[in-house]
Amino acid sequence: MDHWTVRGGRKLYGACRVQGSKNASLPILAASVLAGTETELTNVPRLKDIDAALRILRHLGCRAEQEGNDLYIDARGLVRSAVPHALMLEMRSSVIFMGALLARCGEARLSPPGGCQLGKRPIDLHLAALRQLGAEVTEREGEILCRASKLRGTTIRLPFPSVGATENAMLAATAAEGETVIEGAAREPEIRALQDFLNAMGCFVHGAGSGHIVITPRRARSSTEFRIQPDRIAASTLACAAAAAGGELTLLDTESAHFSTVLHFLKQAGCAIMTKQRCVTVRSSGRLRAVGPITTEPYPGFPTDAQPVLMAALLRAEGVTRIRETIFENRFRQVPELRKLGADIAMEGQSAVIRGVERLHGASLTATDLRGGAAMLVAGLAAEGETRVEDEGHIARGYESFDRVLSDLGADVRLN
Ligand code: UD1
Repeated sequence: MDHWTVRGGRKLYGACRVQGSKNASLPILAASVLAGTETELTNVPRLKDIDAALRILRHLGCRAEQEGNDLYIDARGLVRSAVPHALMLEMRSSVIFMGALLARCGEARLSPPGGCQLGKRPIDLHLAALRQLGAEVTEREGEILCRASKLRGTTIRLPFPSVGATENAMLAATAAEGETVIEGAAREPEIRALQDFLNAMGCFVHGAGSGHIVITPRRARSSTEFRIQPDRIAASTLACAAAAAGGELTLLDTESAHFSTVLHFLKQAGCAIMTKQRCVTVRSSGRLRAVGPITTEPYPGFPTDAQPVLMAALLRAEGVTRIRETIFENRFRQVPELRKLGADIAMEGQSAVIRGVERLHGASLTATDLRGGAAMLVAGLAAEGETRVEDEGHIARGYESFDRVLSDLGADVRLN
């Protein structure tokens, strides 16, 4: 169990580099098994979810080593096409190995994935996409078996732009005979990153970012080098932390276009936002105004992953902010915990209504999930006194050395 202690009331000042993207790294790690080749990745964050992906790679027979933020994978020795249940449970992204293993081995055997309990999180769209490519998919006693003697390129129409289903379809399509078109694809920057990685591997993929992706299989190169893009949710979290605590924070090595919707609301809330090349500066007095309404949507809309941390930043904002969550049924699990700090949040169906309060006070909280846990730390920075967050390790799944990053900026945050 991780114990976080935050003593609020300190402003954040200084500059910090934004970690590499977790959600871009994970599908790329799965993609590294597509062919018997070597992959060198840079700027990979050190996180529990990355460790879980490395354990899956090793179980499959690959060599997988991380040194700092560099990662080396040798997929030539892959000997298995099954991921054991215990490894599947460690994170949601383990499901992306399905498309990759199907492409490499003609078979993938997995169980339903774990990850944050944000709602039902079915994988029907993933399975439907693989079936359309010619895979035979059977689900029996908690096990999913995908098999295909031959995958055939086709047009896949996704009824909802699921990030994971788009990734699985892209990966499986790299081994199909002929061209595959994905219509209604997710447009998140992480999909673009996967496209760029596949192209670096030697495939021919285009259209990512537009909702219409075309995959033309090609023979893979023997080795691929690739740099992971900055994490837009980690950047959003730090920006919200500075907004809540007050101060002036410069995010280095970031891509402001990837989280412009978050910056838009922080600006509306009264923060000064300065963007220059790959740097974003957030200046805040700590006293914000209510914004919105905010509705979470698939990219380029406001990201569901940034919803809890922006909510945390707005707890003391003057006025009323309404946030509607449309992606996950259970994405407000942080709300009962934030109320313990004195926050005034009412739930109305799939919306949260936040009435800004003058003061928050420290309390003992329990992290509910990755982003919900981060939201509690952000709120703790703006609360008077000490906030303790008991955490089963959710926050470390997505934030690299978060205690050190915040402490270096002047926050009083400890992790025991
Ligand atoms: C990814 C991100 C996660 C983010 C989410 C939405 C990673 C590792 N995770 O998750 O951080 O919160 O995108 O931006 O990149 N759905 C179905 N059937 C399916 C698949 C999804 O109904 O087969 C539904 C889900 O239940 C959810 C919605 O679609 O309500 C969005 O899910 P999806 O885009 O697939 O998210 P993930 O890929 O799981």
